[in-house]
Amino acid sequence: MITFDKCSSFKGTINVPADKSITHRAIIMGAMTDGVSVVKNPLLSRDTMATMNVVQQLGVNIVNERSRLLIHSEGVKKFKEPYDILNCDNSGTTARLMMGVLAPSKFYSVLAGDPSLLRRPMARVINPLAKMGADIRSKNNNTLLPATVLPSSLKAAEIEAETKSAQVKSAVLLAGAQLEGVTTYIEHTPTRDHTERMLKAFGIKCENNNGKISVTGGTFSQSRVDVPSDFSSAAFYIGAGLIFEGSEIVIENCGLNPSRTGLLQALKELGVNIEYEITSDEVEPVGNIYVKPAQINGGKISGEIIANMIDEIPVLAMIGLFGKAPLEIRDAKELRVKESDRIAALINNFKALGAEIEEFEDGLKIYPLTKEPEKATLLAYDDHRISMINIILAKKFGVKVLMDNIASLDVSYPDFIGDLLSLEVK
Ligand code: S3P
Repeated sequence: MITFDKCSSFKGTINVPADKSITHRAIIMGAMTDGVSVVKNPLLSRDTMATMNVVQQLGVNIVNERSRLLIHSEGVKKFKEPYDILNCDNSGTTARLMMGVLAPSKFYSVLAGDPSLLRRPMARVINPLAKMGADIRSKNNNTLLPATVLPSSLKAAEIEAETKSAQVKSAVLLAGAQLEGVTTYIEHTPTRDHTERMLKAFGIKCENNNGKISVTGGTFSQSRVDVPSDFSSAAFYIGAGLIFEGSEIVIENCGLNPSRTGLLQALKELGVNIEYEITSDEVEPVGNIYVKPAQINGGKISGEIIANMIDEIPVLAMIGLFGKAPLEIRDAKELRVKESDRIAALINNFKALGAEIEEFEDGLKIYPLTKEPEKATLLAYDDHRISMINIILAKKFGVKVLMDNIASLDVSYPDFIGDLLSLEVK
């Protein structure tokens, strides 16, 4: 069992690690480009290493200088048939985006991953790619990994979103970018748009007309990507800063893409105004976030905004424990198929703290804690984001909160504990 000492507040300035979603896309598009692409300030984590390993098996060379990656490739048309399975480890983004990249290939490849990834739904990406002509066969009637991508001829098509998922959209766009003509993806609920922005940076024509996202097949041209800090990692400091009295946290150089910052909007609906400023806006908006404790009102967060805060819902739910009134989160069924069933994980852990919680298939209602827990054991569920929430709660209540383990922080934020503790005021 792991315990943490209690602290009173968090103060100081923090630069959180680089954005995971953007790093994956930069490695993938760098690999698809003939020449040397540069990724400045990449996230080096288990998930992004999985993407690097996969493209390396396709014949791409990556020089990892830590503060930048140099991606040497002959381009996607020269990818080589891999000798072995492509292990995507714990990373859904790697598996789903690479399925789109590989769908038009003329060779045989197999995508697989760790036990958590092997449980995650893949039909959402296999089906739209099949509509474009892809020949992908996978376990459990084409719903789970491992998936075999067979040589096939794809055609540009119009695909309508059936799942609110940037990963599915990205798979279709990355396949479409390799085909003659225009592929259109119709999205009813906007999801993160890093792929669209980066395709343009790599010289591929990509336009969004009211949710109709069109990509014109073409050749990727060399680019330099400067990866901002990850708003999803910053969210843990937003949560901590709000619930620890006397905190004052500045998060610098953080990605503030509006398709990712739904948490800020949700907090506004709960009466919390988090200040931020955008300091540059080239491919992606970047800026600073200023966090201080505030009164958190109750309310209901649901609808379109959920897609723009899908990875931040654990943080929002944690904040709900410290609100003035109950917080209901709905339309978040996707949380059931992340690295863990996050709805179930949050509910079990919050109940262990003594909170009253209502469960819905698509969300949860959190009643604020009425007293400090006497003793609670929080489980990690093998999920990096659940682990980070547990660590913050352990800092809040001290040794009364025990943890079974600290799962896989290396997936997105290897130094989370050190960074968080560097801000603690005892
Ligand atoms: C991601 C999209 C989201 C998110 C995941 C990363 C991406 O998944 O939860 O952590 O990089 O495109 P979905 O698009 O499947 O919701």
